Amino acid sequence: MLEKNPVIFIILAFVVIMVGTSVTMIAPFKWINGPGDRIAEVKPYTPLQQEGRDLYMREGCNNCHSQVVRTLAADVERYGNGGGYSKSGEFFYDRPHLWGSRRTGPDLARIGLKYPDPKGAWHRKHMENPQSVVPASNMPSYAFLNQALDTTYSERKMKLLKFPYTQADLDDLKGKSEMDAIIAYMRKLGTDIPVKKAEAAVLVPAVLNNPYTDVKAVKEEAEAIYKQQCASCHGEKREGTLGPALKGSAKSDADLFKIISNGIEANGMPTFGAALDEQKIWKLVTYIKLDTK
Ligand code: HEC
Ligand code: HEC
Repeated sequence: MLEKNPVIFIILAFVVIMVGTSVTMIAPFKWINGPGDRIAEVKPYTPLQQEGRDLYMREGCNNCHSQVVRTLAADVERYGNGGGYSKSGEFFYDRPHLWGSRRTGPDLARIGLKYPDPKGAWHRKHMENPQSVVPASNMPSYAFLNQALDTTYSERKMKLLKFPYTQADLDDLKGKSEMDAIIAYMRKLGTDIPVKKAEAAVLVPAVLNNPYTDVKAVKEEAEAIYKQQCASCHGEKREGTLGPALKGSAKSDADLFKIISNGIEANGMPTFGAALDEQKIWKLVTYIKLDTK
């Protein structure tokens, strides 16, 4: 009977669809992103970081990079960088969010933890010429970002977003390039919440005895780890690029273990204690000391 009255049928169908829409799309705003999701340590962006974020959108970096570490173990291991999976409160100040769904490149939600160098040397080199650091990369060069940053709207953006800022923050924008802004944004991503870094130091065993004295036995495995984790800063042949040469290092095995496990973050050497287990670090120590190819 209803199907014979198209007007009523259309109205009823519309009502049913609207009920579904409001339950799944409008109602959740009542209980997501509320005070309960706040994480006290998560801070809003500074003017420079916010400009970097806008450039990230302008350049469409999100077409190749997602920004959310899912709760899957594989995701946490690969992209967590010691900070675990993404928590909803971490996106409190993201307008709009940039989670994305494409992973042509790696997830960047915790990229700030991966390259700790305060000067951003790795990022600069990588942005200017990605293939100089990761030879197989298909990321385009962004060397053109080495142009003056347009700060006309910086203060208005902060006011609009209701983010706190000081005159010093605004003065800090003077003379900055677009590259500086995008690096400042990369270095902030995922760094707010307390991470497992401290635990990495605890992982250094009390007795430091390298169980792998036979280079031949570990070379293949260690070389693979080295290529993946270390070559972008220490060179394919351990000859040194952003970081010092490691080939034939004169340092003791124990000292090398400590450096790799704890990192020297202030100078740009990341902490690997959380990402690599004890055995892998010892294998690397044996391998990097090797004096021949
Ligand atoms: C065509 C796809 C593509 C675009 C567009 C792109 N990237 Fe990438 N990006 C990649 C790939 C692939 C990698 C992995 C290889 C490498 O490190 O270069 C990568 C790596 C990275 C890394 C290092 C990740 C890591 O874990 O070491 C950063 C940081 C990065 N990209 C930032 C950016 C920024 C910022 C932009 C925009 C200005 C951008 N990318 C645009 C594909 C892309
Ligand atoms: C993002 C760049 C980067 C990556 C990736 C990196 N390093 Fe480093 N590394 C550095 C820098 C920069 C220094 C110099 C720190 C200093 O002088 O205080 C350094 C220093 C070192 C040193 C001390 C060398 C010396 O003679 O003083 C060792 C050993 C080392 N790295 C091993 C490794 C290993 C093994 C890996 C891979 C698991 C690795 N690094 C990955 C940047 C990096």
